Amino acid sequence: MVAAVIGRRRSGTLACREIIPRRKDPFVLGPERSVLPMTTPSAISRTSADGAASALRLAGRFWYLTVVVGQLLFLIYVAAFYGGAAAGANFEKWNEVLVGGYVAGGHVGNLALASHLLLAVVITAGGLLQLIPWLRARALAFHRWNGRVYLGLAVLAALTGLYMVWTRGTAGGLAMRAGISVNGLLILACAALAWINARRGRIDAHRRWAMRSFILISGVWFFRVGLMAWILAHQGPVGIGDDFDGPFVRFWAYGCYLVPLGVLEIYLRVQSQAGARTRLAAALGLTLLTLFQALGIFGALVGMWLPRL
Ligand code: HEM
Repeated sequence: MVAAVIGRRRSGTLACREIIPRRKDPFVLGPERSVLPMTTPSAISRTSADGAASALRLAGRFWYLTVVVGQLLFLIYVAAFYGGAAAGANFEKWNEVLVGGYVAGGHVGNLALASHLLLAVVITAGGLLQLIPWLRARALAFHRWNGRVYLGLAVLAALTGLYMVWTRGTAGGLAMRAGISVNGLLILACAALAWINARRGRIDAHRRWAMRSFILISGVWFFRVGLMAWILAHQGPVGIGDDFDGPFVRFWAYGCYLVPLGVLEIYLRVQSQAGARTRLAAALGLTLLTLFQALGIFGALVGMWLPRL
């Protein structure tokens, strides 16, 4: 999905129309038509392969657009709620949301928390900029620097997050602490692999690790969006529990990044290796998941973020 957005082209994934050069003059028939009439079996299978590849690309773009909208809304909420309270020196207001939040006199922990929240705003903006194909194509130097800053700051956010989890705690008990800690450790590992592969010039591997990093770094966002989609779909907090420690929370503490990571791996494999039918099925599956994600974004906006502003 991320790959569709950044417009990558690997030898195994090229659609037939990309292999056969297009004529510039739209009124002259292209080589596909002049060499192979549309009625031959190979022309038909080529057309369906082409259609399936386009469907998968479109599904990837739809997913990407909902992520842009949803993460922008999250960014505005974090900047307005936490930034607004900080600007008025009203740090206690943070505790209307956070469980292990601001502690009067706890300077080290407060500094970690404030840095974490500031990093969250910059990282979310940086991640969205990194995925814009136009910027990548026309401003490669910016893409490279933004990528370095993005991964570097994500490492800092993961470290401050780990510190906060194990010194101040979080909602949801041990499962949440363990789940978000694994998320933090995976961010450190994937960011390192993305960086090492870029340094060694292995661009394809770098891109894959960068995509995995993006998914992991978005774990905090997927958690909230998935939670609200689940609640809306079940019309209530099924499996959540009064103390925020129910079976769904225990599952989603890990699922919020493992499920999207799994979807990304399937997408990459289907895009590079699968036939037309599998691609179409994957496009349909991704579209349905994206609709569910859109429901969660709506739920988070209306149920979580707007009421706090
Ligand atoms: C790197 C990407 C991350 C971003 C963008 C991010 C962003 C945020 C944001 C925006 C909040 C405020 C939540 C809200 O108002 O709904 C938050 C809270 C928090 N984050 Fe992160 N975070 C990231 C990674 C992590 C990691 C890896 C950990 C732990 C290992 C972590 C631990 C925490 C904790 C403990 C809180 C406070 C929760 C509470 O007190 O209830 N974060 N984070």
